[in-house]
Amino acid sequence: MKKGIVVAGSINIDMVFSLPRLPLLGETVSGGRFAAHPGGKGANQAVAAARLGAPTVFLGCVGEDSWGDFLLAGLQQAGVDCSYVTKVPGPSGCAGIYVAAGGENMIAVATGANSHTTPEKVIRAREVFSTARVLMTQLEIPVETVAAALELAKSAGLISILDPAPVKALTPEMLSLVDYITPNALEASELTGIDVHCWNTADQAARKLRSMGPETVIITMGKQGAFFSGPQGHVRILAPRVVAVDSTAAGDAFNAALAVALAQGTEPDIAADIAAAAGALAVSRAGAQPSLPTLEELAQVVKLPW
Ligand SMILES: Nc1ncnc2c1ncn2[C@@H]1O[C@H](COP(=O)(O)OP(=O)(O)OP(=O)(O)O)[C@@H](O)[C@H]1O
Ligand SMILES: [Mg+2]
Repeated sequence: MKKGIVVAGSINIDMVFSLPRLPLLGETVSGGRFAAHPGGKGANQAVAAARLGAPTVFLGCVGEDSWGDFLLAGLQQAGVDCSYVTKVPGPSGCAGIYVAAGGENMIAVATGANSHTTPEKVIRAREVFSTARVLMTQLEIPVETVAAALELAKSAGLISILDPAPVKALTPEMLSLVDYITPNALEASELTGIDVHCWNTADQAARKLRSMGPETVIITMGKQGAFFSGPQGHVRILAPRVVAVDSTAAGDAFNAALAVALAQGTEPDIAADIAAAAGALAVSRAGAQPSLPTLEELAQVVKLPW
């Protein structure tokens, strides 16, 4: 059985400044620490899936700068197949992140090479769709490219998972191509116009989103867990209790574990439980990619049916 995962998505260098406090407009705040980490939702989800043992192919673009080499090396080190990562002229995608001592942040994103991840580049990688079971995609690459990836997934019989972040309006045509959509509460509110702040409102929003196309909707709700709504039923997935250290990449760990479990043929609601365990593990550790759990770590906190 095919168990591979294709990720069509973004890859960024995260430039993180840890500061005593956030600067005001026009102000300089000194006394910071700097670190550069690989990031981008697409790359994070690809690394997360590879760490969970799935053969994973990443479709995306890096720039012809030294960050591009750094990002590629990071993906390869994690075991992600980079045969379809293209180096394009210009800078790599970059997120400039200020984090204050209290945890508040400010983020500026320059799309860079990610805007070169065109439908043509995805279509050129058509053969990887025939060897995989699940497509993961997000909204940090051009929306036409996301649509092209979803179309290829549909015609090749893959299960598709769309993490609609950063959220934007999606056409009915595009939503009709999605099997699983995994917004957080804010994104679900934005997509449905229903203010999602509790299980009841999550249930309402999930039903509305399902009527817009996707067969299964999973609304992630931070430390509360997630609301699952699909043909199997409507259930609350309670988050395992952990000491929250850094919530960065919780959603990426969640989506990747969902993808890996589904690729293994796991029942969707069980796959969502496994995803919640992966999200909790990511929250209990610092950083984005460094916090993503391995298969062994996940198996210690939740029963894996494969
Ligand atoms: N504090 C926490 N304790 C336990 N589990 C958590 C916690 N925060 C998040 N999770 C798990 O991770 C999942 C995804 O988290 P969240 O809803 O915050 O996603 P998100 O806002 O999309 O995050 P991201 O910015 O990483 O994309 C949750 O559904 C939950 O299962
Ligand atoms: Mg998210």
